[in-house]
Amino acid sequence: MRLNRFLAQAGVDSRRKCDLLIQQGRVSVNGVPVTQLGMKIDLDRDQIAVDGQPVRVGERLTYILLNKPAGYIVTAQDTHHRKTVFDLLSRIPQRVFPVGRLDFDTEGVLLLTNDGDLAFRLSHPRYQVSKTYLALVEGRPAQEALERLSQGVRVDNWVSSPAQVRLVKVTAGNALVEIKLHEGRKRQVKKMCQTVGHRVKRLWRIAFAGIRVADLSPGQWRPLRESEVKNLKKLVKLL
Ligand code: URA
Repeated sequence: MRLNRFLAQAGVDSRRKCDLLIQQGRVSVNGVPVTQLGMKIDLDRDQIAVDGQPVRVGERLTYILLNKPAGYIVTAQDTHHRKTVFDLLSRIPQRVFPVGRLDFDTEGVLLLTNDGDLAFRLSHPRYQVSKTYLALVEGRPAQEALERLSQGVRVDNWVSSPAQVRLVKVTAGNALVEIKLHEGRKRQVKKMCQTVGHRVKRLWRIAFAGIRVADLSPGQWRPLRESEVKNLKKLVKLL
């Protein structure tokens, strides 16, 4: 993040005034005065000070909705040097973390926040938060397969809980199936569909606790609206 932007977001002053502070040599990065306006800083490592006073972005609670594209991993650092969702969020000064996970190739709704209580509850099975997926599967699932998915299928050493399942559309050799779950096991939808004989070719999470990404194209994000945050908190009994 650019130094002037950081200072403005930390509440030091307006961006313009922060530029002035920098030009006047009153801002230091890791103890070294900086006068270069466009300097980039690393929020995780660099210590910023104005007139010798450390500046930190306050721990303002931040709630982000990202429309995750395929090809991004949901982790801070990937050992295989793949792109991470944080590459899409570089303009957010607060450190946020994902609420649950989506696979590398899964698309759609991903919430990120630094509100630990909310994130914990939204991910906890006790609160039964709903997640709705749209799966493009190979072949056309018969009624029996759809019923098995909705009643629960044995996968590895677990059985999926009852789910709402709907055949949305059939195309040449494929079908779109909507699956609404209240669980969040690793690769759950892919494993469930595979178990009934239909490999998932593409997977979108279209809703998380009722929140959708209709207004965002892949890779875009926005802060959650106050009403959305309130609803999430109510859902998990934090309000
Ligand atoms: N189920 C999956 O199989 N993958 C995801 O990313 C999410 C749910």
